[in-house]
Amino acid sequence: MAEAHGPAARPAFERIPLERDSWYLDVGCGNGYSVRWAAERAPAGRATGIDVSLSMIERAKELSAELTNVEFLRTEFPEQALPEGRFDGIFSMEAFYYLDDLEGGLARVHDLLRPGGTFVCVVDYYAENTASHTWPKEVGVKMRLHSALGWKNRFEAAGLTVVEQGRIKLPPEVASAEWKTKQGSLLTVGRRAGA
Ligand SMILES: C[S@@+](CC[C@H](N)C(=O)[O-])C[C@H]1O[C@@H](n2cnc3c(N)ncnc32)[C@H](O)[C@@H]1O
Repeated sequence: MAEAHGPAARPAFERIPLERDSWYLDVGCGNGYSVRWAAERAPAGRATGIDVSLSMIERAKELSAELTNVEFLRTEFPEQALPEGRFDGIFSMEAFYYLDDLEGGLARVHDLLRPGGTFVCVVDYYAENTASHTWPKEVGVKMRLHSALGWKNRFEAAGLTVVEQGRIKLPPEVASAEWKTKQGSLLTVGRRAGA
């Protein structure tokens, strides 16, 4: 999964300005690859990954054993344990459409960000990517389908200003499916007001 998402995830991750001492959070972190990227970028900061799957959190911990500035928590987002107003950057790749309460999740992201902090959200399952519409049936999991505008409106309703929205398309030699070159991944970048 991390290998499949990596080529689109990296340019999305780069949208988050991280300083040496920044705080970073990945929601639905999987094996924690982006948390390790952030730990390298912010050696004096704190990089946290959360995932509802225990096996994913265990794998993320294994792969990050040598890092001292990372933490992984098995928890279901939105959750209440993390400090509000503290994170400089929050990232989520292919996880937000799983949330039962998407609006509540976006509001929680807003509250966890420091004023001026950045949220980068990437989804491959979205209305304009018709190739993705069969996925919930194929994997037997409920997913919420929204258009790019639907995502933008929900960000704004949660108090996040959308500073960028677009598609991350891969070159054919890297893409594992045709939609990755044609439709691509939907990227939405939100910012909490202030600072
Ligand atoms: C498609 S995977 C993507 C994983 C990773 N972001 C990546 O790019 O490889 C979705 C992940 O989101 C997690 N997830 C789904 N709903 C969640 C929730 N409410 N809270 C935390 N994690 C969740 C799943 O356990 C899974 O690891």
